[in-house]
Amino acid sequence: MKCTFSPQMEKNNTVICVVGARPNYMKMAPIWRAFAKHAPALPVLLVHTGQHYDSEMSERFFKELDLPVPDINLAVGSNSHALQTADIMKKFEPVIDEYKPSCIVVVGDVNSTLACSLVAAKKNIAVMHVEAGLRSFDRCMPEEINRLLTDQLSTRLYITEETARSNLIKEGIDQSQICFSGNVMIDSVFACRAAVRDAKSVLQSYGFESCFLGESASYALVTLHRPSNVDNKDVLESLLVTLNNIAERIQLVFVLHPRTKANIERFGFYDLINKSNIALLPPIGYLDSLGLVVGAKMVLTDSGGLQEETTALGVPCLTLRENTERPITIEQGTNVLVGTNSKTILEQVDIIIQGKNKKGKVPELWDGHAAERIAKDIIEWIHNSPSSIKI
Ligand code: UD1
Repeated sequence: MKCTFSPQMEKNNTVICVVGARPNYMKMAPIWRAFAKHAPALPVLLVHTGQHYDSEMSERFFKELDLPVPDINLAVGSNSHALQTADIMKKFEPVIDEYKPSCIVVVGDVNSTLACSLVAAKKNIAVMHVEAGLRSFDRCMPEEINRLLTDQLSTRLYITEETARSNLIKEGIDQSQICFSGNVMIDSVFACRAAVRDAKSVLQSYGFESCFLGESASYALVTLHRPSNVDNKDVLESLLVTLNNIAERIQLVFVLHPRTKANIERFGFYDLINKSNIALLPPIGYLDSLGLVVGAKMVLTDSGGLQEETTALGVPCLTLRENTERPITIEQGTNVLVGTNSKTILEQVDIIIQGKNKKGKVPELWDGHAAERIAKDIIEWIHNSPSSIKI
């Protein structure tokens, strides 16, 4: 059922944009730029929950994506899901009370997305959810819970692919609330493409020179961070052994997420990856990550963002998961869902090495202009809401 917003709180035109964790920044940056064109009539506030806080997981991305220093940082840090979500809610509520925004804009599916949506919706403030309706249908994933609940709390839901529309409608969301905007993640890919260093320079700057045969790429880029892949000792060990097998065929560039690094150390698996044909990198910035994707022969990952970026850039991607909430990357893009079975993964790696992989195409409205469509829609919504001032 749709909620009609009553004047429970006196609101103004302010829009609060929320970010919290690494995959949020590249989604919010183009939205921020699109809103900035309407300043000062449209006051926009950037709130960082502090879910991610290390410079390499946060600050560096702000600089590279040309996002301003957040107006407010809630500095919640890491914790269990319950405590992190609760901390964000406690600290976000006074922000809503002070600024009385017309709406908040949240992106993606991290804990910050849900926590801030819950606070806003209970205060009768509209939630605008960008990247709505994606479903893995796997409720063991914390992100799936965040997606389902955020969408139920949202007033406007911006989708990246048509499957998201049918998911939302099945869950009782009114068709009129859904807007097919395209993919803001890909806006950032196109906006930053020219500023990206080539992969060779990226690898040289980390001290790895041997990943190239002459000028041509001969490495596979690897990222892993999903709890289902890296928190369980047996699953992680099996994946690392598989990576070792792949490294016999092609040099690996393995970018280690803090969660993955901590677990490799905890389980004593460092020797499994401490090999000359596996280049281990710490968390890297957005531009270097894009540079490594562009230069890679293939990407092996469990990241949602990389499934989309590889499809947009035409780079073969093997997703080390049993499901994906981004089916369009498989149906139309370069993505293949390979799960965690070693034999299946190796077969698909060989197909790519032999050049027999599918080529894929860029999905509809992944055209670099999604954020402009979203900003326009939100501004119209504010304009049509009873308490608004003309923008
Ligand atoms: C979170 C998101 C996930 C997203 C991922 C991208 C949720 C439920 N999960 O998972 O959807 O794909 O971010 O990275 O919101 N840590 C640091 N420095 C930091 C942040 C975290 O060292 O700046 C370490 C901490 O030890 C922490 C661990 O990484 O416990 C995991 O961080 P957390 O934010 O809990 O989850 P992610 O796995 O990063």
